[in-house]
Amino acid sequence: MPSEQPADLSPAAIDRMVAEALAAFAAASSGAELKAARAAHAGERSPLSLANRAIGTLPGPERKDAGQRLGAARAAINTALSAREAEIGAAELQQRLIDERIDVTLPVELGPEGARHPITALIDLMSDVFLDMGWEVAEGPEAEGEWLNFDALNFTPEHPARFTSDTLFVAPLENHVVLRTHTSPVQARSMLTRELPIYVVCPGKVYRADEFDATHVPVFHQLEGLVVDKGITLAHLKGTLDHLASSMFGDGIETRMRPHYFPFTEPSAEVDLKCFVCHGASVGNPDAPCRTCKSQGWIEWGGCGVVNPRVLTACGIDTDVYSGFAFGMGIERTLMFRNNAADMRDMVEGDVRFSRSLKGMAR
Ligand code: PHE
Repeated sequence: MPSEQPADLSPAAIDRMVAEALAAFAAASSGAELKAARAAHAGERSPLSLANRAIGTLPGPERKDAGQRLGAARAAINTALSAREAEIGAAELQQRLIDERIDVTLPVELGPEGARHPITALIDLMSDVFLDMGWEVAEGPEAEGEWLNFDALNFTPEHPARFTSDTLFVAPLENHVVLRTHTSPVQARSMLTRELPIYVVCPGKVYRADEFDATHVPVFHQLEGLVVDKGITLAHLKGTLDHLASSMFGDGIETRMRPHYFPFTEPSAEVDLKCFVCHGASVGNPDAPCRTCKSQGWIEWGGCGVVNPRVLTACGIDTDVYSGFAFGMGIERTLMFRNNAADMRDMVEGDVRFSRSLKGMAR
């Protein structure tokens, strides 16, 4: 409780208040102490504030004098307070700089360096070939509607790829959701949602009820390409595949198409890659056999074809005006060829030594 006695507003009393305040500020040696001194000597219940409140009780002439004295006292206290605040702040900062100093010249122990997964790096590398030509990257979900994975792509209802022995269905079966078995549903998605003309590549994960061995993994990656424009022919497809092949495997590595069947392309072909090891020199040359292509000169790479007009129609595209081509290949397979990765299991086991051994393969 503040003192009950009438406040002493005499010059001597006020001088004493100032002297005590200045002594307390000077004695404070930390921000916290200064805060306490401030509350005691300049706060609402400080002698100075109480004196200030008492001014009104004085008769007129004395009131004026007392007011002036108190004003001067307050100014002196505030000045001393800010000066001390600045001093203590600077000292505390100085101390922190000393306490928190770190020696940046000390040797550090670096953790093992990581690396991007080679599949990710290769996806970027392959996508860049197309981005450089002005194509776009399209994406779609891995849990896909059965209609988009099969029906829109002209698979008949009894097509064997729909069997649960080949395709992983998401329970319950009545929902007709599959883990996409190829990236081709992104073709349908692109045609249903994009403006024409369409130039897209879609890299992504696909799922099949497959074995897990050196050349099969049940979850792998494909790169799909789709073009829909006016006047598109097989020649555009061949040129695009050759460009991708030489970008991935070097000049002179071209592709060849072998007739095949896919429900969503007509005509369809399998894409073979010229053997990037013997460049075909082993063919008919028993003296120089090639292990990579088994002296065939070509290696199977993926599938392709002219987009089946039934697919264009299912996606609402006028087949009198537009035509297109599509292709798709395995990214793991491409990595095996390109970087001599003999065992696909290395690509999924997550051993960082594998990633590191192929580090820097991209670009
Ligand atoms: N989707 C086919 C597969 O997974 C590949 C393919 C893509 C074929 C595009 C033709 C056109 O085997």
